[in-house]
Amino acid sequence: MTVPQSACLRAALQVGYSWLDRGSSALLAVEQAIRLLERSGLFNAGNGSKLQLDGMRRMDASIMEGNQLRAGAVASIEGIVHPITAARLVMEETDHVLLVGPSATQFAEHFKVERHRLRTPPRRLSYGAMLKLKRATRDGHGTVGAVALDRSGTVAAGASTGGIDRMLPGRVGDTPILGCGVYADNETGAVSMTGLGESIIRVAVAKEICERLAQGTTPTTAARLVLQKLVARIEGSAGCLGLTPDGRFAIRHSAPHMMAGWWDGRGKLIVRDRFP
Ligand code: GLY
Repeated sequence: MTVPQSACLRAALQVGYSWLDRGSSALLAVEQAIRLLERSGLFNAGNGSKLQLDGMRRMDASIMEGNQLRAGAVASIEGIVHPITAARLVMEETDHVLLVGPSATQFAEHFKVERHRLRTPPRRLSYGAMLKLKRATRDGHGTVGAVALDRSGTVAAGASTGGIDRMLPGRVGDTPILGCGVYADNETGAVSMTGLGESIIRVAVAKEICERLAQGTTPTTAARLVLQKLVARIEGSAGCLGLTPDGRFAIRHSAPHMMAGWWDGRGKLIVRDRFP
């Protein structure tokens, strides 16, 4: 973890907590924390998003709250700084859950979600060349996410990503798929995932962790067991933030590192890149 990344994570925790401290919803705290990470350009989200193999930056995000199970998501959205805000607007301004592609971009433009100034020229590769490049890698990290618990006892979770290295155009990962990259339910807890989306989707990780919480498993054990399953069954790779409505939380990862932190507004604010 670089010094700027660590400072940015600390700032995101402080921003998120400051909204909670003023009595705002967990949903708003999650959105605001993620907006800071998206804007920073230091992570694979918003301004820092990876490019797909055709040179285009297409991003995914979702957000969910645990009281009424309301949620919104966008996939393959282009040209904006804050996909997490577009996801929140899908939740609040429509009766849909997920908008994709140019239609999602049009939606965000309608609601004046800030456009980013980064312009990259399209890469003119044949489809065969893109497929060859695709085979050369399976890295999948750098997604940003947050979970929060507000005074009313409602939990929320969100995530935002630029995807993975060397994606085919149109590739969508776990982040905008509820139950995979994100889930929140006041009867169980809130979960936000980072890691290789192709593996997280196949195990529906966020929902599986919530189901284990519903059976009375602690957040740490639930996260550990589901990540173990991910690795054992499909050699997956992921990291998880989990939080229950009674304030217990877990940060776990199967990959060697995961930059993350927590703060309850009282004790020491913790940011680390390893959570054994
Ligand atoms: N976890 C982010 C992605 O795979 O797209």
